[in-house]
Amino acid sequence: MTTPPPRGVLHRWGSVLPIGPETPRISLGEGDTPLVRSAHLERLAGLDELWFKLEMCNPTGSFKDRGMVVAVAKAVESGAKAIMCASTGNTSASAAAYAAHCGIESFVLVPGGKVAAGKLAQAIAFGTKIIEVDGNFDEALTAARALTDRHPIALVNSVNPYRIQGQKTAAYEVCDALGDAPDILAIPVGNAGNITAYWKGFGECAETGRATLHPKMYGFQAAGAAPLVSGHPVEHPETVASAIRIGNPASWTGATSARDESGGLIEAVTDDEILDAYKLLASKEGLFCEPASAASVAGLLKLARAGRIAGGRAVAILTGNGLKDPDTAVRTYTADVTKAAATLEGVERALGL
Ligand code: F0G
Repeated sequence: MTTPPPRGVLHRWGSVLPIGPETPRISLGEGDTPLVRSAHLERLAGLDELWFKLEMCNPTGSFKDRGMVVAVAKAVESGAKAIMCASTGNTSASAAAYAAHCGIESFVLVPGGKVAAGKLAQAIAFGTKIIEVDGNFDEALTAARALTDRHPIALVNSVNPYRIQGQKTAAYEVCDALGDAPDILAIPVGNAGNITAYWKGFGECAETGRATLHPKMYGFQAAGAAPLVSGHPVEHPETVASAIRIGNPASWTGATSARDESGGLIEAVTDDEILDAYKLLASKEGLFCEPASAASVAGLLKLARAGRIAGGRAVAILTGNGLKDPDTAVRTYTADVTKAAATLEGVERALGL
C-alpha cells in the first residue's frame, strides 16, 4: 500500500503563506495548474510566445480555489463555524466546496438571476445556503461585509487577505514554469483581487530571485462594467461576462497600483470582442473557458490590432471553465448537428459518404 504524495496550495506553497503548524492542511487538489502554449492565437496577438494558465483546471473549475483554501483553512483554525461571501458565482462555488470539505456552514449572497447555471448548480450540490439578493454584486458585497461585522461568520471574499495570499501562488507557478516572469500578464478584472494577487506574487518572486523581471500587468474589464477604465464606479454594470459584472471593485487601489507600478494598463473590451475571443479559444486552441476568462485574450487581440504589441512573451490567465456557463455557450457557438438513423447507412448518409 502506498499513500499518494500530499498536494494542494497549502502543501506546495506553505513556505510563502501566512500559515502555521496549527493551520489545517486541507486540500481539494487545487493549484499546480497547466501552463500551455498557444497553437494559433499568439501570431494573431503579435507575440513571440503566448501561454495560457489554465486556472479553470482547479477543483471547482476556477482560480478561486487557490485563495479559498487558505481563507477557509485560516477560518477553521480560528474556530469559525460558518463562512460567507458575495459572489457572481465562482467564489460561491469555491467557498461552498471548501466549507463542505471542512464540515462548516456556508452562506452565499448572489445577484438574483445573474449567476451562470453551472455555478449555481455547484452551490446547490455543495449544500450551501444561497441568498439571492435583489441587487448586483457590489450591493451583495456591501451587505456581506456588514453582516459579517455583526455576526461570528468569516467573510471569504477577496477583501480577506488570505484570499490574496493564496491567489498569489499562481504567479510563483508561472515563474517556475517559464524560468522567469513573462513580459506581459493578461488578466480579466472584476472585483480586482486577482490582479492584486498576481502583482504581489510577481513582486515576491523578483525579490527572492525566482524571477529577474516584473511583467507588465494588462488588466481587461468588460466595457459595460469598466470602472477602473473610466475612473469612477459604475452603478449598473452590465456584460455577458457575468463573472466580472462588477461596478465598484473592492481591490480598486490594488489594481491601479499593479497597473501603474508595472507600466501596464487596464482597458475595456466589448461583449462582442469577449465572445469573439471565447469562440477563437475554443475553435483555434481547444480551450473552453467562460466568457470572463476570454476577456484577457480579447484584450491582447485588440491591442495587437491597434499595433500596440511588439512581440515578447505573454501569459493569459484563463480563470474559469466554459462548462460553468452552458447558456452562453449554446447561444454563442453554432452547433453542427445532423439527425441520422442509428445504422451504418444512416450515419454514412448523414456524413455524405
Ligand atoms: N474570471 C472569473 C471566471 C471570475 O469568476 C472572476 C471573479 C474574475 C475573472 C475576476 O477576478 O474579481 O479577482 O478581479 N469572480 C468573482 C466571483 C467576483 O464572485 O466569483 P477578480
